[in-house]
Amino acid sequence: MVRLEDDHLHIARVLEALERALSVPPDEDVNWEIVADIISYLQEYPDTVHHPVEDQLFDRVLDKGLTPAERELVHTNLAQHAEIIGATVQLERDVGQILNDIIVPMDQLQDHFKRYLELQRAHMRNEIHHLFPLAERQLAEEDWQAIAAQTATQADPMFELNLGKFASLYEFVAEATS
Ligand SMILES: [Fe+2]
Ligand SMILES: [Fe+2]
Repeated sequence: MVRLEDDHLHIARVLEALERALSVPPDEDVNWEIVADIISYLQEYPDTVHHPVEDQLFDRVLDKGLTPAERELVHTNLAQHAEIIGATVQLERDVGQILNDIIVPMDQLQDHFKRYLELQRAHMRNEIHHLFPLAERQLAEEDWQAIAAQTATQADPMFELNLGKFASLYEFVAEATS
């Protein structure tokens, strides 16, 4: 749980950095290389590790005696994971087109990013305020141990490992969120 909470702090910083990267004055160009690196981080870690770990966690929560409302909450959250992963793929496609000099309508693009930021932030708030407390109430020590055992090996390539392109992205994120 501490790991997932740390991830949330990191994801929140990355989203803030993304927002910064996109909001340049009208006479300046967005640094799309940085935006592409941010998207690549979101795909490599949150979408590949963080949300799937949560899926395992919430699957276990569904095995417990939940009220219909709690059950609904968990199902909505699980569906949002698929939605977020799809939305990141869409952003990757948009930015890939820009980097390949294909014309992309700017207002459509800004709209995709705006909705993405809203979706991710609402999703995290919901987890922090409702889903995680529910998991804490429902799961036993053996559930936590089983989840930890299944998910121990995958480290965050930026905040933990500081690997390759994520080392310079980290500097951008640190500056944008300081
Ligand atoms: Fe999530
Ligand atoms: Fe999460």
